[in-house]
Amino acid sequence: MNHFLDLHRTDPASLRAMLDQAAAMKAARAGRPRGAPDDTAPLDGRIVALVFEKPSTRTRVSFDVGIRQMGGQSLVLSGAEMQLGHGETIADTARVLSRYVDAIMIRTFEEATLLELAEHADVPVINGLTNRSHPCQIMADLLTFEEHRGPIAGRRVVWSGDGNNVCASFLHAAGRLGFDLTFTGPEELDPDPEFIEMARAEGATVTIARDPAAAIAGADLVVTDTWVSMHDSQTTKERRHRLLRPYQVNAALMAAAPEALFMHCLPAHRGEEVTDAVMDGRQSVVFDEAENRLHAQKAILRWCLGV
Ligand code: CP
Ligand code: NVA
Repeated sequence: MNHFLDLHRTDPASLRAMLDQAAAMKAARAGRPRGAPDDTAPLDGRIVALVFEKPSTRTRVSFDVGIRQMGGQSLVLSGAEMQLGHGETIADTARVLSRYVDAIMIRTFEEATLLELAEHADVPVINGLTNRSHPCQIMADLLTFEEHRGPIAGRRVVWSGDGNNVCASFLHAAGRLGFDLTFTGPEELDPDPEFIEMARAEGATVTIARDPAAAIAGADLVVTDTWVSMHDSQTTKERRHRLLRPYQVNAALMAAAPEALFMHCLPAHRGEEVTDAVMDGRQSVVFDEAENRLHAQKAILRWCLGV
């Protein structure tokens, strides 16, 4: 069963094949209206459940549109409105959904929920974000980097800010696809040491740096994300902002890496983790990145379904 649960749980050759297929599929439909079908309909007769236990704009719309372009159908479900949110077990939900749909994408809180769903589903399960990782996002980010700058292998990515779920998937990708990752942020918000060790064991150079300007110098890509994620308690907001303020990606910081691209998974909190000048500046590719969620996930769906 080809579940897409995390980048470190997916073999590098498959990740490479998905990125290449995403680029080819994107090129093949250049200039077409968004709702026009692709030349082939690999998802003809397939239906995919998109389950959300947290809010979403990009994940929800890009999966739905991508499935339609490939000739499939989708069902967008809110976890709170399912029996899942009212006491039915994850295992039973997996067994039931498997009788109706051909694949399940889920955005949830605990990683354990995702893994339990995959264990009990008879159809592929895709991770649409958990508290711990966001692999679909990083597939889009890699596709975007390679479109602008060529192969990611051997490049240096700098993550500035909170060592969160999106940062974790960057670490997974660094190990799998052979690029270096520097994390710059406060010690309290360092990425999970297990993921740092995993990337290092696969040959990636992972550096932890406290001085953001020194960290960013010479970077090929600078990335940040919100200072307070959906799973973080609002009571920690003030402390997080205070700790993370020195790691704001602004024009002065980006000046240390004039050749770097800037990415943010979005939604951005302009004036907090990133300024308008950077978001709207010449180094920013954030909207290409958002578009590429669509193309990357179409390739992920094809890989999961073997079509
Ligand atoms: N980047 C991302 O996953 O966005 P959404 O929360 O809007 O899906
Ligand atoms: N780190 C953010 C990413 C949102 C797409 C969160 O989990 O809320």
